[in-house]
Amino acid sequence: MEQVNPVLVPERKLSDGMVIPGIGMGTFGNDRYSSGEVSDAVYGAIKAGYRLFDCAAAYGNEKEIGQVFQKAFADGIVQREDLTIMTKVWNDRHGEGDVLVACAQSLRDLKLSYLDIYMVHWPFPNYHAPGAHLEGRNPDAVPFSLEEYLTTWRQMERLVDLGLVKSIGMSNMTITKLEQVLPLCRIRPTVLEVEISPTFQQPKLFEYCKEQGIQLIAFSPMGSPCRPARDTEEGDVVTFELPALKEIAAAHHCHPATICVKWAVQRGQIPIPFSIYEKEYVENLKCVTEDFLTDEEMERLRKADQNARLIKGKVFLWEEAEDWRDIWDGEDAWNIL
Ligand SMILES: NC(=O)c1ccc[n+]([C@@H]2O[C@H](COP(=O)([O-])OP(=O)(O)OC[C@H]3O[C@@H](n4cnc5c(N)ncnc54)[C@H](OP(=O)(O)O)[C@@H]3O)[C@@H](O)[C@H]2O)c1
Repeated sequence: MEQVNPVLVPERKLSDGMVIPGIGMGTFGNDRYSSGEVSDAVYGAIKAGYRLFDCAAAYGNEKEIGQVFQKAFADGIVQREDLTIMTKVWNDRHGEGDVLVACAQSLRDLKLSYLDIYMVHWPFPNYHAPGAHLEGRNPDAVPFSLEEYLTTWRQMERLVDLGLVKSIGMSNMTITKLEQVLPLCRIRPTVLEVEISPTFQQPKLFEYCKEQGIQLIAFSPMGSPCRPARDTEEGDVVTFELPALKEIAAAHHCHPATICVKWAVQRGQIPIPFSIYEKEYVENLKCVTEDFLTDEEMERLRKADQNARLIKGKVFLWEEAEDWRDIWDGEDAWNIL
């Protein structure tokens, strides 16, 4: 297997001083790849040089991933301190006392004594079962509530106090929600994980997080070509088909996927691309250590933004909501430059 020296991979320093890799690997099998396939890829990725992994209880594969972390430690490939392991509390564990239990379960499944980063997966308690279709919507779904979110966040803060988690973060937030929550945080989020790709660049949120000292983690950095059916809609953009991306990829003699990763790292968000295929995940890491995009190419990609959200979260909609844009506080209408 081709290996990438982790020392060559760019790093990011978080507001609490923690230094983490500038690229990681996603572990959501998209209801398509089995836990075994994903965990095998995680093991291969550690061997290849990945040091950052994005997990979640909701992905249903933490036990298998925990086994390969153990194997990697036992095989002497890495030590625990070499890895940055992130995971997330799922929506059905937001209640008082539930976050601690959820964190304990993830620690147990991942076979770890601490997490580097623990995130709130979605800013509401709207649960859906693994593999759900759109009709699988929870009839008890509710809109965002500051009070409900703070009940969850206070428990996240306690996990830091207890030393079970080094750093805490948020996911799927908007500027509207962050403005309500941030002034009330005793321990502020160091990271925010949201969808960002060349076809959905979220420039306003990007600038806002920069001002607030919050590091963005970019999920679905390639436009999630294998996302579950519940997240697809007729007319969705196909990120890999973006003309500017294709032309720049041709100039660099590589797949557009590789350009998505280079662009993300050079812009400053931390991409967490997913792939179970060795050739792809090795290339996704290697590409950030060589053959960088020029300023002109970066500018061309900036201008090619389609402001096209792909992971709309429709399955989380509550009854009175008009459509998925309500989940994002209508910000997609103005999150452009
Ligand atoms: N916080 C959240 O709510 C949230 C939501 C979504 C995702 N995530 C995280 O983000 C991670 C990545 O997101 P994602 O899987 O939705 O989207 P993605 O990384 O944008 O797309 C992954 C797909 O891109 C293709 N791909 C990857 N590398 C490639 C390469 N070098 N060449 C060609 N094709 C390549 C693969 O397709 P094939 O399988 O066909 O090869 C793979 O399945 C997830 O695993 C998860 O950890 C978080």
